[in-house]
Amino acid sequence: MEAADLRVRSLGACRTESPLGALVTRRGTTEHYVDENDRVLFDDTLAMLAARDGEPPSFEPGGPRRQIYFDPAKTRVGIVTCGGLCPGLNDVIRGLVLELTSHYGVRKILGFRHGYQGLVARHGHDVVELTPDGVEYINEQGGTILGTSRGNQDPAEIVDCLDQLGVNILFVIGGDGSMRGAQRIAREIAERDRRIAVVGVPKTIDNDIPFIGHSFGFQTAFGKATESIRAAHTEAKAQPGGIGLVQLMGRHSGFIACYAALATNDADYVLIPEVPVDVDDFLPHLRRRVRDRGHALVVVAEGAGQSYLSPNGTDASGNTRLGDFGVYLRRRILDDFAAAAEEVNLKYIDPSYVIRSVPANPYDSVYCLRLAQAAVHAAMAGRTEMVVGTWRSRFVHVPIPVAVSTRNQVDPSGDLWMSVLEATGQPTTFEPSTVTS
Ligand code: F6P
Repeated sequence: MEAADLRVRSLGACRTESPLGALVTRRGTTEHYVDENDRVLFDDTLAMLAARDGEPPSFEPGGPRRQIYFDPAKTRVGIVTCGGLCPGLNDVIRGLVLELTSHYGVRKILGFRHGYQGLVARHGHDVVELTPDGVEYINEQGGTILGTSRGNQDPAEIVDCLDQLGVNILFVIGGDGSMRGAQRIAREIAERDRRIAVVGVPKTIDNDIPFIGHSFGFQTAFGKATESIRAAHTEAKAQPGGIGLVQLMGRHSGFIACYAALATNDADYVLIPEVPVDVDDFLPHLRRRVRDRGHALVVVAEGAGQSYLSPNGTDASGNTRLGDFGVYLRRRILDDFAAAAEEVNLKYIDPSYVIRSVPANPYDSVYCLRLAQAAVHAAMAGRTEMVVGTWRSRFVHVPIPVAVSTRNQVDPSGDLWMSVLEATGQPTTFEPSTVTS
């Protein structure tokens, strides 16, 4: 990461007094607040900083500015939610609407329906007006009141739509694919020399978008997943040869599986995409565990073990449709116990969409609201082609190219995976030598 990578694009100088100016006037950098002209360091150890030549990379802090770019009375805003569902989408929508109206005095907010399709006339979706009254209580529901869809649309058609409706700010709530789409929209706007801000709020229950600490809805999702793990554990303990097998979402990143397993602290094995598993070596280990302890609990992330399966093409977002590892592993376990003539009672649970269609828990609701507030402050100050993120617990502005440049994954040499290994007692690899007797 270089200093220049983290510079956020701005539509121009901020010349309008912010209605929130009084909130920031007498504040300076503290542990809990970073002044708008200060920067949040990318590196947070002396060694990392000392290894740098030249200007250390740093993020622009989030939060209200003393002066803003848009005149609130003349500002029209659009909001769109894209990609798969995630707990907290309605909290973010409501947070945006309330911050824009109550604090900045913006009067016109439009909601585009069903993702980017809603910005392209030929899809025929209506545009809804969002008001504080209209968004009351929406945070108590899962899903998104705007609807969603996967896949990008032609940025030229989208900018035509923004032009026709006189939209000055577009908020995109979506995953990495949607943020790439947002980047193309921002570039099209720049080519046409328009003054329209595009600001993203990153969304992913897989927690795989970087520079966001953890993504909103993630805590709710893994919390919900613990119900399946508890059920599987109870079932497994109740019968001779009991095995609970739970498959959880997590295409390329096993965070949900790791956190849900740690939260319950009952799993004997956690299998994630980041740590390849040799099923032939895993099975004798599992059989030994069931023989020794009477039961076992296995948690897998859906993206694990894909080398055993064939992909099924791609979805509209361009994501590979994965093979079903949970079902594959279930079959392999049953066959293995049958071949060894050992009793097994396997209960397989895949809560699938149940974990992401629920309303946000209170922690995520707070987080969604704060992300929404930070997004509004950034957009009103004319920042564009950026997402709001958190870095070392502080709200920051992240240029979209940086936000989509890598994927957040469980580091097999990092402390999270170490905690999982400690909690489960599973070996680092399932080599035959790790079957102890
Ligand atoms: O958004 C991420 C995710 O929830 C993955 O964990 C899961 O594999 C995928 O979306 C499913 O998405 P879809 O809605 O396309 O079935």
